[in-house]
Amino acid sequence: MLQIQENISLKPYNSFGIDVKATYFAEIFSEDDLKELFQHDLVNSQKLFIIGGGSNVLFTQDYNGLIIKISIKGIKSEITNDNIFVTAGAGEVWNDFVNYCVEHHFAGVENLSLIPGTVGASPIQNIGAYGVELKDVFESCTAFEIKTREVKMFTYADCHFGYRESIFKGALKGQYIITSVTFRLSSEAKINTSYGAIEAELHSRGIENPNIADVSSAVSHIRVSKLPDPSTIGNAGSFFKNPVIEKYEFADVVAKHPDVVHYPTADDKIKLAAGWLIEQCGWKGKIVGHTGTWKNQALVLVNHGGATGTEVFSFSEQIIDSVKSTFGVTLEREVNIL
Ligand code: EPU
Repeated sequence: MLQIQENISLKPYNSFGIDVKATYFAEIFSEDDLKELFQHDLVNSQKLFIIGGGSNVLFTQDYNGLIIKISIKGIKSEITNDNIFVTAGAGEVWNDFVNYCVEHHFAGVENLSLIPGTVGASPIQNIGAYGVELKDVFESCTAFEIKTREVKMFTYADCHFGYRESIFKGALKGQYIITSVTFRLSSEAKINTSYGAIEAELHSRGIENPNIADVSSAVSHIRVSKLPDPSTIGNAGSFFKNPVIEKYEFADVVAKHPDVVHYPTADDKIKLAAGWLIEQCGWKGKIVGHTGTWKNQALVLVNHGGATGTEVFSFSEQIIDSVKSTFGVTLEREVNIL
């Protein structure tokens, strides 16, 4: 039964643990719930914001509108000659989905173990970690169109994936609500341990020929050791994107900072490690008021308890200013600011 709650605290619904209120809040368990919600007058008179795990948002003030939390569950698979197609409800917790795949020997998402958030949010910013991005395993998704109130299908080509980007963050922002995602996985693992830390972790465990469970376990271990656990220390993962710059801009940076950590991109640009830039500016592990950067990964801003969204936001401004003045590079936030 669809319920619309009023004036509720969003603290349990955002991984930063910021204590703000929403005027209205509805949790959605099915596409039918969505259709019912959109028959309500409220959706025409209020601002809307969709959350999954609330793990990529910073609330800087009370939300004067309707928050729609997507909790559509269910995972099913279809095995063909060449592929395994797994469809998961948008509200499935991402890591539960990864565990399901690993347990069923469906290969492809093991490197994406322990990323916070939900399945429905995964295509929006094309989540990625340890050498794999969501787009590498994405087949299609279904999404509810707010304007027409119909559910539509999006293929890979429709989604315009880029580094932490998709059409859902770009041209179609705010127009669709993802309800399910279908992944193209495989029974034959293409083990990808190219990301240095994975090799080293497997090596230290004495594993020569890893299977997907080994990779998932190694990735989980690396994440736990480097990244703060949102259930104890509020955070939203990487707060900034790794900046992608042109080669001629890079020439300036590397001339002054020969040891700058960087990677070439497929489109002939250069991606810089934002965590490294921030650390070089002296911010790693710094605590300022109730906020700061994480001691093992400077790209992650944390709530040490009782931080307000504006406090975290102004801290992020200081970081942007200092990276700009030291390296001439402008950091962009990866987290949605509300
Ligand atoms: N580095 C530093 N200091 C730091 C952090 C990083 O010098 O404080 C250096 C590292 O030594 C390494 C390089 O920067 O040489 C890259 O660091 P890392 O491997 O930790 O990855 P990242 O580029 O900082 C990205 C993703 C993470 C993902 C990791 C692993 C973005 C914005 N972030 O971080 O994703 O887990 O790669 O693949 O692309 C997230 O998006 O929330 C997230 C955590």
